[in-house]
Amino acid sequence: MDLFEYQARDLFEAHGVPVLAGIVAHTPEEAKAAAEKIGGVVVVKAQVKVGGRGKAGGVKVAKTPDEAYSYASDILGMDIKGHTVHKVMIAQGADIAEEYYFSVLLDRSNRNYLAMCSVEGGMEIEQLAVERPEALARIAVDPGTGIDQAKAEEIVDAAGFAPELRDGVVATILRLWDVFVKEDATLVEVNPLVKTGSGDIIALDGKVTIDENAEFRHAEHAALEDKDSADPLEAKAKEHDLNYVKLDGEVGIIGNGAGLVMSTLDVVAYAGEAHGNVKPANFLDIGGGASAEVMAAGLDVILGDSQVKSVFVNVFGGITACDAVANGIVKALEILGDEANKPLVVRLDGNNVEEGRRILAEANHPLVTLADTMDEGADKAAALAYGK
Ligand SMILES: Nc1ncnc2c1ncn2[C@@H]1O[C@H](COP(=O)(O)OP(=O)(O)O)[C@@H](O)[C@H]1O
Ligand SMILES: [Mg+2]
Repeated sequence: MDLFEYQARDLFEAHGVPVLAGIVAHTPEEAKAAAEKIGGVVVVKAQVKVGGRGKAGGVKVAKTPDEAYSYASDILGMDIKGHTVHKVMIAQGADIAEEYYFSVLLDRSNRNYLAMCSVEGGMEIEQLAVERPEALARIAVDPGTGIDQAKAEEIVDAAGFAPELRDGVVATILRLWDVFVKEDATLVEVNPLVKTGSGDIIALDGKVTIDENAEFRHAEHAALEDKDSADPLEAKAKEHDLNYVKLDGEVGIIGNGAGLVMSTLDVVAYAGEAHGNVKPANFLDIGGGASAEVMAAGLDVILGDSQVKSVFVNVFGGITACDAVANGIVKALEILGDEANKPLVVRLDGNNVEEGRRILAEANHPLVTLADTMDEGADKAAALAYGK
């Protein structure tokens, strides 16, 4: 889960990372009140989970509370790279002397953590990495030892900080490592980390990604979830613990096992080329135990997507055999009743396939068509979605 900047700021503060005052506001009135409370020059910052807000006009310096009001009116509702701004953060204005970069992240390909640091912050780091890779220090961090004093010094020296900044930046990096470990993050990025006119080191922008696999030990992280922009179908799927991702097509997909579902998406997209270019409408993995309840919940989510014109259920019977899945489908259609209103193509294979097909054939549900193979099922579902 990616966090908003204001949430990252709050976590930074809780772990002793130096930050400036920041108050989140949902309306221009709240923005003005926040600016009055903070006092002096403030910065109105769009809160969207995407970088480059500054360049997009989503970060504005306001000298008075009235200016904060007017910038907040401009920024709230703005679209930044496809993200609508629902809130702004009113941040205390910093007197920036220099901008630096620091991040630590999970480096999956090397099964390690990676710290990156540069004295050339502020600009987009991807651009720096391409144009002047030598300016970006990349230091591997052993998960066993993490970033201790010596590792933080190694990072700071590799980035080439001036000697008088060394202690301050090292201390800040140690605090940021604390955020990374204690919050179970997979990314903590500060761009820019700044030196102020008076020589203080401050994290001026923060990007944090929380590892949802560690949710069980962070009840408090539930409050960080962004309910405003959550897709309603994804929210519903989450309530039922379904592994669902909404996509932009017309053929609803249900399968068991992530690999099978991924390949089903490919096969349906390919079949769709012959049927008006219809595409998969979602990813939905109902997992191993395809019970009637899980099948009903999955169908309910998919049928609730108004873009969906047909559904392809592609299940490979394993521990949960095909007859159990077939019973699940029949019962799910009973549970849903009139809410099941779009054609379903079902392809079953694997353990007890004959019995599974017999159950579906016997139920003879008007919406259900059987397919023998994955390709045939994808083709039928695509054709039905295209209206043929
Ligand atoms: N509190 C602040 N005070 C002064 N300048 C700021 C402040 N916050 C951001 N800025 C300036 O705006 C730039 C962009 O802001 P930032 O928070 O990094 O957003 P983004 O990375 O999305 O563009 C920063 O590099 C910095 O120069
Ligand atoms: Mg930034």
